[in-house]
Amino acid sequence: MRVIKVSEAPSIPLLYHTHHSLEADDLPFWLAWARQQGGPILELGCGTGRVLLPLAEAGHTVFGLDRDAAMLDFLRRQVTDETRDRVVLVRGDLRSYCLASRFPLVLMPCNTYSTLALTERRSALTRARLHLAPQGVFIVSMPNPGLLTELPGDGEPENETSFQHPHTVNPVQVSSQWEQVDEGIQCSWHYDHLLPDGRVERLTLSTIHYPQALNEILREFKEVGLDVIGTFGDFERGSYDIDSPSLIIVAQG
Ligand SMILES: C[S@@+](CC[C@H](N)C(=O)[O-])C[C@H]1O[C@@H](n2cnc3c(N)ncnc32)[C@H](O)[C@@H]1O
Repeated sequence: MRVIKVSEAPSIPLLYHTHHSLEADDLPFWLAWARQQGGPILELGCGTGRVLLPLAEAGHTVFGLDRDAAMLDFLRRQVTDETRDRVVLVRGDLRSYCLASRFPLVLMPCNTYSTLALTERRSALTRARLHLAPQGVFIVSMPNPGLLTELPGDGEPENETSFQHPHTVNPVQVSSQWEQVDEGIQCSWHYDHLLPDGRVERLTLSTIHYPQALNEILREFKEVGLDVIGTFGDFERGSYDIDSPSLIIVAQG
């Protein structure tokens, strides 16, 4: 098998979106909070719109903030005529943005919080609090930090799933690999695009996670004036414990 490394950026949002759109377990949770809180909603780190688009399709006005221009361009192309006037996309950094609106609901779904270095979290939390409307709710979800810290130090790649490449319809095999690095735990997603002539185009996306104990996270929320009103361990609102798949924190300003 000859592996070719793919470096062109336009492939990243497409493969990211196709892969992560397979994961929709959290969507009913976000939609329920959106119904309860009403809009406008602010999604921090909206990426390619896996969460933002269903919220807009459900009739909510959604602001999406992301620093990655390629992800936002991809998302902009997914917005339909029907939802266009309910979607506001902003390129910015979730540690330093300043929007004129205040929001009944601010979300940070998926893994984004976990990938902020500990020193960046305070700025992100402070910004989120400042953008909450009165009685507004800020919700962040992340992989269970307790489980992350127990991962084997130098994991081999593990096959996760596969999907059809949306352009070529060839299979794309997805594997993930976790490695301890000095600063935290590096997660790499390998996307192996299997070409009919036997070659494999590999694109790898890596991010570092900074797991932190729940009591430390709660302390940081408190320090910036966010009052935690709930914690969950999954998107069915089960309680959080050491084996929960996720850690979800619900806070008010
Ligand atoms: C794991 S993706 C999540 C995408 C989307 N929320 C979802 O649930 O599928 C993380 C996104 O956060 C964005 N991001 C990470 N750090 C950021 C920062 N400091 N400011 C703005 N966006 C950031 C990345 O560009 C990426 O699009």
